[in-house]
Amino acid sequence: MSFDPRDAATVSAGLAIFNTPSLLGGQAAKAGLSCNSCHDNGRNNAQFRVEGLSSASGTADVTSSFFSILRSNKTYDPVEIPDLAHPGKVSRAPEDPALERLIRTLIVEEFAGKEPSAATLEALATYVRAIRECDGNPSQERRLKDQLHLIDAAIDGALAMHQKGDEEATKLLVRGARHQLGLIDERFSASRLVNERQLLLDASRRLQDMANTETGEVFSASLISWRADFKSGLALRLATKEHLSLYNPKKLETAFKRNARSAF
Ligand code: HEC
Repeated sequence: MSFDPRDAATVSAGLAIFNTPSLLGGQAAKAGLSCNSCHDNGRNNAQFRVEGLSSASGTADVTSSFFSILRSNKTYDPVEIPDLAHPGKVSRAPEDPALERLIRTLIVEEFAGKEPSAATLEALATYVRAIRECDGNPSQERRLKDQLHLIDAAIDGALAMHQKGDEEATKLLVRGARHQLGLIDERFSASRLVNERQLLLDASRRLQDMANTETGEVFSASLISWRADFKSGLALRLATKEHLSLYNPKKLETAFKRNARSAF
């Protein structure tokens, strides 16, 4: 397998796929989990805690039947989620395909996902090899710009995969961009942000339509113009309203308290 570590589009595609739940199958995808849910920013996730999967915060049992009946070892053995910026059990050497093999096993057997294309695996492995400590503090608050960055990465990745003729990876990346639009929508939940939510939905549907109906150069040109419109329009509008959304830590805290009260 050949890859160029300087290939920015491959790393972008890997980053976006790493954040896309539909890469995984079964319960993980249903629960909206992506690789990034456990390895936040490629690191670990001290906050990760899912009933039946975690013994303590920051742990997960990745051989749980919750994810895949195929490979469940029938025992409950959560381990600490490793920080992928640090050397682990599996070699990260570029010429060693062990990492690609591990990631394939994770997707297909651990998380009951569909067989990933070679380009999908290459992108994920390239991204994992590129994770460094400075890539982000896992405990940082989510900001709108994180989602905007991932949308950008997904579109870059989709363009590169489409160029390579890998339609499956292209579709996955379009779903990845739509997933990020959905995450913004969740945070823009205030009633006065109803127009922004409608525009998010429209942008997401437009992407879906393009991916379903367009091919070849037409599709590439549409992706490029979708992104230009998004950046010069909705993205700026969202930024001016970010303080009203749950990206604002104060609003998020109030919403948590409200939910906690209504749960009892
Ligand atoms: C439910 C949480 C969870 C999800 C989702 C998840 N992982 Fe992990 N990952 C773990 C845990 C826990 C381990 C440690 C397993 C062990 O040591 O037995 C691990 C180990 C790894 C390792 C090995 C690190 C080493 O030791 O060298 C890599 C690489 C990795 N994960 C990448 C991924 C990728 C890529 C995805 C998405 C396809 C993913 N993970 C999804 C929890 C998760």
